[in-house]
Order: sequence, then C-alpha cells, then structure tokens
Amino acid sequence: MGSEERFEVIDHMCVGHTNNSHRNGHAWGAPTVWLTANVQFEGMPMGRLVTLPRADLATLPTPLERGPHLEAGPRLWVKRDDLTGLGVGGNKARKLEYLCGAALAEGADCLITVGAGQSNHCRMTAAAGARLGLETHLVLSGDRPDQLVGNQLLSHLFGAHLHFTGVPSANWGELEIAREALTEALEADGLHPHSIPIGGSTPVGALGYVAAFVETMEQCAALGIEPAAIVFTSSSGGTHAGLVAGLALWRSQGNPGPLPEVVAIGVAKGVVLGLPDIVGLANDALKLLGATGKGSSPVVTAADVEIDTRWIGEDYAIPTAAADDAIIWSARHGGWVLDRTYSGKGMAGMLGNAAEGRWAADADVIFIHTGGLPAVFAPEGVPDVAPAGELDHQLP
Ligand SMILES: Cc1ncc(COP(=O)(O)O)c(C=O)c1O
Repeated sequence: MGSEERFEVIDHMCVGHTNNSHRNGHAWGAPTVWLTANVQFEGMPMGRLVTLPRADLATLPTPLERGPHLEAGPRLWVKRDDLTGLGVGGNKARKLEYLCGAALAEGADCLITVGAGQSNHCRMTAAAGARLGLETHLVLSGDRPDQLVGNQLLSHLFGAHLHFTGVPSANWGELEIAREALTEALEADGLHPHSIPIGGSTPVGALGYVAAFVETMEQCAALGIEPAAIVFTSSSGGTHAGLVAGLALWRSQGNPGPLPEVVAIGVAKGVVLGLPDIVGLANDALKLLGATGKGSSPVVTAADVEIDTRWIGEDYAIPTAAADDAIIWSARHGGWVLDRTYSGKGMAGMLGNAAEGRWAADADVIFIHTGGLPAVFAPEGVPDVAPAGELDHQLP
C-alpha cells in the first residue's frame, strides 16, 4: 500500500464547531471543524487508533530521509517530524491531533496548555486552536519580554492569549498548578476549556506516537531496511511513551524481523528523576486503544524503556558543547535545523552513542527530528558557528 493511500481519509464527521468567531475576532467566522477517521492501520488490528476522534492537523506521513553513513558506525536516517506542518511543525502536531479530537468530541470551546517560555508545544497548540477556531490560552514560565521572539512571537501571531507566570522554566509543578488555576477561572467565566498538561503527554496525546511508530516501520519496510534503533529527544515523555507503546503493539502482531531499540535522549531533569512514568503512560495509551495482539495483548515493561541522561548538561534549556557541535554538524551534513534545548541535545546523544560503537557499521539508525525551529530565532538560539567573516564577505 502506498504512503498516500495509508493516510487516505475514508470518513468525515462534522462536529459543527462554528460559533466562537467573536472570541477570536475572525470577521469571516471560524472554520467548520472536521474529525477524521482513516485507514492508515488497515490490516493491523490496532483497536480504536482508527476510530478515536482525531482532528486533521498534521501533514503525514513525514519523510524518512536518508542521511550520511556515520564515521563511527551506522547509516543515519532522519524522520522529519519537524515537517509535520502545523504552525511550522514539530512532534506536538501528532499528539494534538488526538488531544484536539478529544477536545472537540467533548464540546470544548477553548484550549489551555502550559510550558516553558519558548515552548514548542504551546506554539503548536496555539496553531491548532487557530486552525480549529478554539480560543487558546498558554501558561508560560518567565516574565513577559519587551519583545516577543521565537515561539512566543508565533503563538501571539496565531492569536493565543499568553499568560506569563514569572515561574522559572524548569519548575514544572508550579506551572501545572498555574494551568489548573487558569482552567478553573475560565470555567467560572462560563467557558468549556480542554486543559492539556505539559507537553501534551497524556495517554491520549501519546497515541500520536503509537501511530508514528507504525508509520516509521512501514516506511522502513518499503525501503527494505530493518532499523537497529529509533533515537529521539525526550522531555515530558509522551513521544517516548507512544513509541514504546507502538513497539509493543508491533511486537504483539508478530511482525517479522528484528525490532528496533527505542532510545530516548533526556533533556529535562524533572523527567529523568522519574516523572512521568513512561511505562504507565504507554500502557494507559494501549488501554485507550483496547489493543489486542495476535497471541497476547501488547504490554510495555520497564525493559522497553531506556532514557540516556548523559546529554542534558547542567539542566533543561542550558546549552551544551555537545549539542552545539551536533547542531553545526546537522546543519552542514543534512541542512537539518536543530535547537539548543531539544533536538540539538537529542542529536548529540545519537551521535555520542554511535561514536561509542553502540551500533554496527552496517546498521541503520533513525533519528526522529522532533522540531524546535522557532527557538533558533530567539536570542542565543544558535551556537557561535564561525568567527564573523570566515565564510562571508562584503562584495565591493
Ligand atoms: C522540539 C522538541 N523535541 C522534543 C520534545 C520532547 O517531547 P516530549 O515532551 O513528548 O518528551 C519537545 C517537547 O516539548 C520539543 O519541543
């Protein structure tokens, strides 16, 4: 089955969300919202992944791009989830398809979420809100800067309300309390908010990456490769939980061939110290699916979950030399744009593991590029690439 056919829309269900244009100020009214079911998993008994409400937000499947053969070992492939389309792309588009599907199905009239000042998740939620005609509120760490840049600038452009808390960026607990307080305040105001925890990392959000795992394996099969590993950046854990749930599902279907290792590169200490529980999140996602396997039901165990914590550096969002090197290497070997908080550290982890000889020279390793582009345009968004004037000069 060709990739276009895999994502063919077979059924449209209009949920008639049309009357909040006054809140977003669209003179032409809010768009009608469509929830889609699709046949991408036809032939695979994946339970309700096919029928759960899903808002059509992402451009899928994303490309699986052939990269260079690494000096220290495997062939690199890059899964371009930075190109999911929604609000300039990134991994959250996949989660938001299911999160917003749930929001619309329950009749929500606004979205609330929370994140660090330069949160990609918040920016993409703002874009989803704009697409679906849902008023969107973002609870952000830090104070309002004099000038909005990067993700904040885009969130503002997408029409979201930005609520600056003054809370430092890695104080996830305090930020969550602020989100809950805002949710209650908006409810008291008569709204019906759908409130999304940090990173969209709920069992519903993780479903997006269950689907992504299957999508990736199907692309590998079409290319005739059996990946030794799928490596990616992990923070709030929803991407990780979805991928290991997808692996368990794939395994339970008795798919032939060796299964890839799923290797998360951690970038936030709070997560690494035990929150969230990836095994629990993954199994809850599988329960939502009501997924059953050919022999036994798919289950994720602790043995499926690996987080390599060596690439965080001092803490979340504090640049590291390894990430900066990985950013420059990626830009100059694939034209891939990585950021210093997430995908740069993730790629540093992938390159580091390869340099340590983890994978054989004839292995294929996939790095999921989870996005992060807008932060590149915030102050100090890119490392010092070269002394000014080294690669450029002024023509007379
Ligand atoms: C660019 C980027 N990569 C990776 C991640 C990590 O994803 P998750 O929160 O699902 O672990 C994030 C989360 O915000 C992100 O913005």
